[in-house]
Amino acid sequence: MTGASDEEVWPPPVERRDFLYVATGMMGAVGAAAALWPFIDAMNPSADIQAVAEIEVDLEPVEPGQRVTVTWRSQPIFIDRRTPERIAEARADDDAPDLRDPATDASRVQREEWLIVVGICTHLGCVPDGQMPGGRRGDWNGWFCPCHGSHYDTSGRIRKGPAPLNLVVPPYAFLNDTTVTIG
Ligand code: FES
Repeated sequence: MTGASDEEVWPPPVERRDFLYVATGMMGAVGAAAALWPFIDAMNPSADIQAVAEIEVDLEPVEPGQRVTVTWRSQPIFIDRRTPERIAEARADDDAPDLRDPATDASRVQREEWLIVVGICTHLGCVPDGQMPGGRRGDWNGWFCPCHGSHYDTSGRIRKGPAPLNLVVPPYAFLNDTTVTIG
């Protein structure tokens, strides 16, 4: 049966389920130092893990249209390999009047195919949905935070709901076409 609504498929607490899925899936999809972090430590990081200032992520296994989450300083980091359609959507809305925290898409990415943001809603700190296949991505194909209904677009910009700011872009750098360091 595949006709269930979003609510039936993904009941609360969505943010924890989402985080667990991507943390587990990351083990196969992202063969980087970040993948070595045990899930339990990601949720309750010890002092030495918190002190890790930089992680290196192998992007090679990430397919176009796929999203993965890695953990950096005990925070989920969304890495979205955007399709041309998603990039076009983001750029078409650069001047949209409903941008609460105005920013161009180009100002939020170093390489247009890769959107990298901290996966924490700027309202009250939930982890927005949108990672899993079929996950709720909100009205702008980005992320949806079920706590009070914040919608983020394909650039991670807040478009609707109570969140005041865009998803934060962390410090990162590409070492080459398939390797990025975060931190
Ligand atoms: S924490 Fe995201 S809408 Fe409340």
